[in-house]
Amino acid sequence: MANLLIFGAGDMARMAHHYFTHDSPHDVVAFVVDRQFRRGDQFLGLPLSDWEDAPGAYPPSEFMMFVAIGYTRMNGARQEKYAAAKAAGYRLASYVSSHCRYLSSTPPGENCMIFEDNTIQPFVRIGNNVTLWSGSVIGHDSVVEDHCFIAPHVAVAGHVRIGERSFIGINATIRNSVSIAVQTLVGAGALIVKDTTAKGVYLSEPARLFEKSSDEVEPG
Ligand SMILES: CC(C)(COP(=O)(O)OP(=O)(O)OC[C@H]1O[C@@H](n2cnc3c(N)ncnc32)[C@H](O)[C@@H]1OP(=O)(O)O)[C@@H](O)C(=O)NCCC(=O)NCCS
Repeated sequence: MANLLIFGAGDMARMAHHYFTHDSPHDVVAFVVDRQFRRGDQFLGLPLSDWEDAPGAYPPSEFMMFVAIGYTRMNGARQEKYAAAKAAGYRLASYVSSHCRYLSSTPPGENCMIFEDNTIQPFVRIGNNVTLWSGSVIGHDSVVEDHCFIAPHVAVAGHVRIGERSFIGINATIRNSVSIAVQTLVGAGALIVKDTTAKGVYLSEPARLFEKSSDEVEPG
């Protein structure tokens, strides 16, 4: 059990507070944000303070931290604040849902958030500062490098490497043994069958509008 300080006061912070409170040994005690963005003294009924004052008010020897930032700037915002928290001496907590099937013997790195219904197969390695939203499969022997964000219901086959700061959109599919280069953006629903290029954006065909209305066709 550790007293936990959360960086952020948005949706990710609200989610982190909920999951850490209801499904982890950690006790969330306060929130911090950059001084210029702080609005008010409380968030979710807990103290909300300036990040600049955190090491004095919440010493790293007594408090762990979680950086609750989403995928802004292709995960760059989360990467920067993760580095700042470490530089200030904080240990960073990770959350793995009790409803996740985590079958790899290698635990995730620091500041990871792994939500419910993910299946992490044997021999998978998950780096630091990775967010895995709900319902994905990370196939055996795959590697998810630092600062990645994987949206819900992504299918990652075996022996895949997902490079740093990549974003994999909802319901995307990644074929076995493919290498996703650093900072790749895989759009929602995309099918990736070949290695990607760094900072590339990948899209498959979106659904097209059929020529008949739903009055004219039967679903079954
Ligand atoms: C790829 C993406 C980043 C593009 O966003 P955008 O720049 O705002 O793109 P737009 O919505 O303006 O669409 C631009 C064009 O790309 C197409 N497009 C957008 N996303 C697409 C996708 N995922 N697959 C195929 N085509 C897509 C649009 O149909 C549009 O085509 P058109 O010019 O022929 O009309 C975004 O659509 C996406 O897929 N984001 C991931 C969302 C996600 O997974 N969220 C989960 C959060 S937990």
